Amino acid sequence: MSLTEKETATQDQALQEVDDILALTNEDTDEAVHVVEDNADSIFTWDYEKGKRPRLNRLYEKAKHSQWNGETDLDWSIEVDQEQIAREQGTVGADVFGMLGIDLSDTPMAKWGESEWVTMQIESQNWSLSQFMHGEQGALVCTAKIVETVPWIDAKYYAATQVMDEARHVEVFAKYLDEKMNGHYPINYHLRALLDDIINDSRWDMTYLGMQIMVEGLALAAFGMAYQTTSEPLFKQLLKYVMSDEARHVAFGVLSLKEYYAELSDSEMAERQEFAFDAAVRMRDRFLQQEVWERMGVDPKQAIKAFSVIDKNEDPFQQLLFSKIVPNCSKLGLLDANGGWLRKRFDTLGVTQFEHNADTGEEYLDFDVSKDIAERRAEAAAAEAG
Ligand SMILES: [Fe+2]
Ligand SMILES: [Fe+2]
Repeated sequence: MSLTEKETATQDQALQEVDDILALTNEDTDEAVHVVEDNADSIFTWDYEKGKRPRLNRLYEKAKHSQWNGETDLDWSIEVDQEQIAREQGTVGADVFGMLGIDLSDTPMAKWGESEWVTMQIESQNWSLSQFMHGEQGALVCTAKIVETVPWIDAKYYAATQVMDEARHVEVFAKYLDEKMNGHYPINYHLRALLDDIINDSRWDMTYLGMQIMVEGLALAAFGMAYQTTSEPLFKQLLKYVMSDEARHVAFGVLSLKEYYAELSDSEMAERQEFAFDAAVRMRDRFLQQEVWERMGVDPKQAIKAFSVIDKNEDPFQQLLFSKIVPNCSKLGLLDANGGWLRKRFDTLGVTQFEHNADTGEEYLDFDVSKDIAERRAEAAAAEAG
């Protein structure tokens, strides 16, 4: 089948974009710290009336009862066989990719046997989990910033509980990587750039929009998919606990911004719409696991180009990543403001079908694990006593 001129031009443009993305890499991987300028003012409020925003207050009370302990509520004695997990996740070879229209014949992968594909899968897991861990630290820093910058006492209270949640998330991902997997990856350049931009912004609501709505919305969907597909019991439990917190965090963003966005002008809304779309495209198109290909001895450009025949706009996995973001943007009025600017953009990504899914402002109660935690603790206490 020959390509039309227009198709060829679009493909050339897409490949040029891949070149541009891969040209930016994290150069300072040996640095122990990374400094980001934070341009925001710290705000005190003298209005201490608790519960003025009843839904935020309810969320805060819920959060106090849902705190789990990463050291003791997870069963770290479970042995994890990473190779077996990699095999279960499906280590398909060049022949299967061939059926999907992916031609690996001119790449080193053409000669790979099962063991290389298993190694690739293991490295891919290490990479993904490492990026989750770095993203969690981004959430930790962002939420600490929200404690400082949000003007409402109910939101400061809630954000303080989220700081604690995020500390636990960083802790458990780091522990899982150290004890159950075999190697960290540094933060990906494009993830770091996105976190930097979110922290850099001086407007308090942009931290929420970038972190709680976009990054955590995507993470909640990604964790949900990982939860459905993993059979490793420790990781499953870890994800379940983390997701129960993340659902609250996304709800915190939705509940806080709903009130604020109702009062913004069209031009102010337009800035938020652009910010949201930019974050969406960056998360979807720039996190390319280039570091994994490098570690596997394959030129990332060659590998990514070989796989780029799959159209992201029609890839169900890529679409599902937006299953939380789209209904939440809808609830905030971001889809329809300014003549539906964001709706039209999301249409081009093929994700507007999620707009009527439950929004996380309502849905977080479904993720609750406080009963689960209480039962586990009771069982552990009974076992110790008897
Ligand atoms: Fe988190
Ligand atoms: Fe979170």
